[in-house]
Amino acid sequence: MPTWPARVEVREVGPRDGLQNEKAVPAEARIRLIDALSRTGLQAIEAAAFVSPAAIPPMAGSEEVLGGIDRVPGVVYSALVPNAKGAERAVMAGADEIELVVSASETHNQKNVRRSVADSLVGAHDVVEIGHAGGILVDAIVSTAFGCPYEGDVAPERAAQLAGHLVDAGADRLSFGDTTGMATPRRVTDLLDALEQARVAPDRIGLHFHNTRGTALANVVVALERNVTRFDTSIGGLGGCPYAPGASGNAVTEDLVHMLHDMDIETGIDLDALLECAALAQDIVGRELPSALLHAGARTRRYAS
Ligand code: COA
Ligand code: ZN
Repeated sequence: MPTWPARVEVREVGPRDGLQNEKAVPAEARIRLIDALSRTGLQAIEAAAFVSPAAIPPMAGSEEVLGGIDRVPGVVYSALVPNAKGAERAVMAGADEIELVVSASETHNQKNVRRSVADSLVGAHDVVEIGHAGGILVDAIVSTAFGCPYEGDVAPERAAQLAGHLVDAGADRLSFGDTTGMATPRRVTDLLDALEQARVAPDRIGLHFHNTRGTALANVVVALERNVTRFDTSIGGLGGCPYAPGASGNAVTEDLVHMLHDMDIETGIDLDALLECAALAQDIVGRELPSALLHAGARTRRYAS
């Protein structure tokens, strides 16, 4: 048997990555979903985005969301930001951690945050300063790390180099986003090799897969074998990216947790409680979500013979 880590941290990103790509839902529903998720044992929830409401209407009102949740001690409620203004809003609203997004591809960065990668890197220093002055950690997300819908493949060395610049700017940790589901186990291996070459330790790395082409859990397994222990997923498989044509939902939280538990990898998460959240997420967005577990049940489910 390969060696897998004993414990994995699952960060739930449905309330941000998921809901940003759905028809806007009221703050009250966003709060209800976050509160339900925070009672499953999840310890990290990406709760909001402090971005331009004109750019991403469903994330308008993120102050109200962070102000309205019933905080569970030990849960880190994070928020995505594109710039210093977003970082200021996030700190003011009481986010526990900031996620600064920068794309490895120039075209995606232009479309997503309307500036060059170089300008985003200059801004990264301000974002880090604001986060640290507010007493919170800054996670830098390297978006389109496995490929760009406009430019095609992104060289792993390029993603690793950008990660290095973000660490130099003061980022505490790194996440690598497979924004449009272009990663496969081979591409994950290539990126982890490049990060190893660049001396980025596995405990700094988080991975964020979308299941657009059905490879998300295969990618996770390859990463586990390389000692990566942080993964982003969304409840029910909510998700996408408004500036990434063809993107579909994230890796599914309950499908990942079900697989990890069978591998004797601890998550601290109650799978039944998670399934209730997936049903709630379906109710909130009013459509069927791609979750496998929600449809099939756990592998030990029995049918009357
Ligand atoms: N939150 C709220 N408003 C913001 C903001 C933020 N983080 N950053 C800028 N704005 C406002 C400005 O105050 C300004 O408002 P005004 O017209 O009332 O003066 C307006 O937006 C334009 O500011 P500017 O700096 O020129 O921004 P822009 O129009 O070039 O847009 C971003 C840049 C980054 C704000 C915008 O592209 C964005 O929010 N992108 C996020 C995309 C995203 O979330 N993608 C999915 C996640 S990967
Ligand atoms: Zn994503």
